[in-house]
Amino acid sequence: MPTTLTQAGTAFSFSAEQQQQLYLIIKHHVGILPSSDVAALCKQYDQPVDAILRACLPIAAQFAVAPISQFFVGAIVCGLDSQGELHFYFGANVEFSQQALSLVVHAEQSAINNAWLNGAKKIVKIAISDAPCGYCRQFMNELADAQSFDILLPKQQFKLAELLPCAFGPNDLGNVYSLFNPAPQQHQFVTRAELDAKLLDCALSAYVPYSENYSAVKISTFNNGDFYGCYAENAAYSPSLSPLQSAISQLHLAGLLMNKEVVQGIELLQTQGKENQLSVSQAVLASYPELPVLQSISLALCIKPTVV
Ligand code: THU
Ligand code: ZN
Repeated sequence: MPTTLTQAGTAFSFSAEQQQQLYLIIKHHVGILPSSDVAALCKQYDQPVDAILRACLPIAAQFAVAPISQFFVGAIVCGLDSQGELHFYFGANVEFSQQALSLVVHAEQSAINNAWLNGAKKIVKIAISDAPCGYCRQFMNELADAQSFDILLPKQQFKLAELLPCAFGPNDLGNVYSLFNPAPQQHQFVTRAELDAKLLDCALSAYVPYSENYSAVKISTFNNGDFYGCYAENAAYSPSLSPLQSAISQLHLAGLLMNKEVVQGIELLQTQGKENQLSVSQAVLASYPELPVLQSISLALCIKPTVV
């Protein structure tokens, strides 16, 4: 049954000044509040993790770029890394002016993408500033921990099965894998030396059980490093997150914007013979006519030699 917070009094919140300080820390870590900071906040304010998590939601929403709706959604994945350390992975919605509304990145997707790209191994909780839409419930149903994690709203708590009864998911398509528990990678790219090794790695770690288009995007900036995005598919297809959307979401979590002062170049790497991202990437990029043109590369895959 859903749990509604019933205790008397108002929920714990950060002052505007505290929010601004935390915003700068999270921006510095490109959308992450590391475990040491989470522990320090719990201690400093004598609050449980859930209260700190909920109090961080208005900060998550500050990363939103919503020129169409002006509706700023924040989401935070509370997840464990490979060492068992608990970090907060932030996310916020991203809208694309003058493009189809369906291209939008939802805050929940942004936070899950952030956790995934940054090596989170287990999702324990997902906090969201507003009720998750049907599309996000479906996106969350692709996760390895879909049965176990808690969904925290400002005043309620749910399991995904309560929000998405009679669900359609990977198993319905015969896919035994899931996002955060992918099939072991048996392939490598037939590569060219000049290509960025991180872009190749990112593409090989894409979750693409339905199209097999291992693909990734790199956004290079003039002064702020490179941002990578990875393709994450969904059994219901529509909620899939394209590698370009994934990379743009990461760039915004560094507090940057997609403009010509920031972005130096954009590269899309796809799997030869399985390409499906060029048109959608061009549609997203049409929202930023001043940016350099997309560089598109296709590479063939071959079976990885077994190490003996
Ligand atoms: N939005 C989310 O980010 N998550 C949801 O589950 C509900 C909707 C965003 C999408 C769009 O940018 C704005 O809120 C209005 O729908
Ligand atoms: Zn949604």
